[in-house]
Amino acid sequence: RAKLSKYNSLEDAVDLIQQSKNIILLTGAGISTSLGIPDFRSKGTGLYSKLEHLGLNDPQEVFDIDVFRQDPTIFYSVAKDILPSTDRYTPTHKFIAMLNERGKLLTNYSQNIDNLEVKAGVPKDKLIQCHGSFGTATCIQCGFKMEGEKIFPEIKADKIPRCPRCIQTLRAAGGAPKRKRSAGLEKKRRRWSADESSDDSEYDMPTAGIMKPDITFFGEALPDEFSRRLTENDRDKVDLVIVIGTSLKVTPVSEIVSWLPSHIPQIYISRQAVSHINFDIDLLGDCDVVVTELCRRLSWPFKHEMVPKG
Ligand code: OAD
Repeated sequence: RAKLSKYNSLEDAVDLIQQSKNIILLTGAGISTSLGIPDFRSKGTGLYSKLEHLGLNDPQEVFDIDVFRQDPTIFYSVAKDILPSTDRYTPTHKFIAMLNERGKLLTNYSQNIDNLEVKAGVPKDKLIQCHGSFGTATCIQCGFKMEGEKIFPEIKADKIPRCPRCIQTLRAAGGAPKRKRSAGLEKKRRRWSADESSDDSEYDMPTAGIMKPDITFFGEALPDEFSRRLTENDRDKVDLVIVIGTSLKVTPVSEIVSWLPSHIPQIYISRQAVSHINFDIDLLGDCDVVVTELCRRLSWPFKHEMVPKG
């Protein structure tokens, strides 16, 4: 339920957007679902409701750094399904770019890893990818970093990407023993490899480091830029907060709203209201529909097709 506030209507939201010059946009998976990209927690359609076959206590373990270190096969069994795979963006992404074009966007804090904000025209210096991205990948053993796209072919082929630097070091040291998998490893491998005969890695799994995309897992720190920008730049400048398409269940991003000065008006746009945070204005419904109506009332020409065809 929205808090008692002098703002409460759609018309108030329009006025606030009109007056504001430094808007923080906080976004989540809900802004991409109209492209067929699943969110995480919607019952039935969200990624987490589709992971029962993995037999985890909690589906969020797929993105848990300790679980990844113990058994990367779990993450890599779903990674292929969450790789950024489209350049199309939604009316909501376009709306964020339009706020920027009109000199109103302070920062877009996005929890999404699909990079579609950039495709829609949000400049990189206005975007904080709070949960990282597939743009780069890092070896969990030696820290070697490489372009994220380089490991996409292996991910798509149901293989676990290994670190080229570790492999080089092993080669220089005279080579690691050829893979002689124990029964245990055979069993583990079967959980992720669609093609059991595909075995082009020379090295034993424990020997060469494993590459992990630089998306922020549970148990990992957010990119430094996140808190630096929020505390050193945005907190004193922000004049309006708009939260779109996120259940606000994951800290520290979910804490941004209550951490900002309480006199700053806050608008929530999503399918359902959240009960743990009170906003000034809740605009509930499909976010593409809500932002299109906001643009209509703002008299901002909005040419983006409603739901891009796929
Ligand atoms: P969630 O799946 O938790 O929340 C998405 C919200 O958007 C839900 O409340 C939906 O009802 C709503 N929604 C979905 N489609 C919508 C639409 N078309 N219009 C309006 N609302 C819509 O996703 P996030 O809040 O983004 O982190 O999840 C936060 C983090 O949890 C993710 O970044 C991910 C996950 O674990 C990591 O993996 C590290």
